[in-house]
Amino acid sequence: MLRIVVCVSGGGTNLQAILDYMEQGAITNVEVIAVISNNANAKALDRARAKEIPAIVMSPKTYSDRDTYNVAFTEKMTELAPDLVVLAGFLVKIPEQMIERFPNRIVNIHPSLIPSFCGVGYYGLKVHQKVLERGVKVTGATVHFVNEGMDEGPIIAQKAVVVEEGDTPEILQQRVMEQAEWILLPQAIDDIANGRIRLENNKVLRCV
Ligand code: GAR
Repeated sequence: MLRIVVCVSGGGTNLQAILDYMEQGAITNVEVIAVISNNANAKALDRARAKEIPAIVMSPKTYSDRDTYNVAFTEKMTELAPDLVVLAGFLVKIPEQMIERFPNRIVNIHPSLIPSFCGVGYYGLKVHQKVLERGVKVTGATVHFVNEGMDEGPIIAQKAVVVEEGDTPEILQQRVMEQAEWILLPQAIDDIANGRIRLENNKVLRCV
């Protein structure tokens, strides 16, 4: 059984997709042992509570400085001891010590086709704004392992989504979620839980 902690900051629709897949049996061998948010008002926390999953709030704002928060956050994760940490719309930079503590055991969903539209300043709706500003015709989403770089770890899965004329950032965000994110992230978790992927030379390989 793969024990996972899901980190969230906002609406939690990706978390919901994971929970729905689990309920439908489309994710197997997985237990969500906790949900952690930096935002006490995140709707994602209600989604966790509705399933009786422990919902933990840890905000950098309530610590004296970022280093103190980083230590506390890493300690909490170490105490929970998950097999996998899932960043499902988590908008806080993961402390380096946590990445060292959980090597290749943290995955992230990003709402673009990495390496496009990622890195510092590219998160949430901003990604889709930049996509529309640039006028690209195809975007998508990426699930990847987290390393010390920003959106730079080995890519697990990607899915393309067409940009349509008249799209607003909100409309495009919704389409990317529906057609890519809510499918890719649960599938990646199921693949990891059932030993279908492995890392070799910093590349993710499928073993089926
Ligand atoms: C999702 O689109 C996710 O890909 C994005 O935040 C949104 C969270 O939505 N994550 C990032 O931008 C990380 N760089 P949700 O809370 O409804 O799942």
